[in-house]
Amino acid sequence: MRPLIVIGNWKMNGSLASNQDWIKTVARGMESGMPSGRKFVVCPPFPYLSQCATLIKEHSLAFLGLGAQDASAHISGAFTGEVAAAMLKEMGCSYVIVGHSERRQMHQETDEVVAAKALQVLDAGMTPVICVGETADERNSGRAEEVVCGQVAKQVFVLQDRLADCLIAYEPVWAIGTGKVASAQIAQDMHRVIRLQLTEFNGDVAEHVGILYGGSVKPDNAVELFAMPDIDGGLVGGASLNPQDFLAICQA
Ligand code: PGA
Repeated sequence: MRPLIVIGNWKMNGSLASNQDWIKTVARGMESGMPSGRKFVVCPPFPYLSQCATLIKEHSLAFLGLGAQDASAHISGAFTGEVAAAMLKEMGCSYVIVGHSERRQMHQETDEVVAAKALQVLDAGMTPVICVGETADERNSGRAEEVVCGQVAKQVFVLQDRLADCLIAYEPVWAIGTGKVASAQIAQDMHRVIRLQLTEFNGDVAEHVGILYGGSVKPDNAVELFAMPDIDGGLVGGASLNPQDFLAICQA
């Protein structure tokens, strides 16, 4: 049985003061207990990882894991501005998002780069959250499945059985930050396609890999999305900035 996982991706938001309030509010909300069989993760920007790790410890937030929004495809060396997976592990991270569409689009990250990053994250002992998803044009021209399966195929090719230790996040680009959530059925259909593709590769891997949905997940659509058989949780951007909304999605 795959656990339901909710990951909050703060993107380039937060401050020392607001992070403190966020963790305090979430700690208070989680105090009275959370649904069992679930995992919750928050991914702040790099400079705040240490602060958030300390706050999570101070509040004894056993329910909340720490994640990062990206990692370098390289192990160490002359890569100005980049952050190595081993450094993230040292800061207390257990999860790292790789291949987010914002990185693919604004930083020209290819599937090969994304797979190299995922390998670094695995080698450092953390779980990569590998993002895939089609643009509006690709969906409108009937190519959504082809595009997403192509992205997944590259990861399968490189990661092979190690994919069992990864999460995949299906994030249709047209749904990210737009308020246009994919209907639960559209999301489920794509998750099913991804699961079948993984099954063709290796049935055991397919059973293990959690496939999260991302793109305008909110408290009022999370219940329906998470009820779908192939949706194993959510990667939440905008709504994760509000601790009450994040809590509501975690409880959905
Ligand atoms: P959103 O972002 O929830 O704001 O649409 C999701 C994401 O980019 O991971």
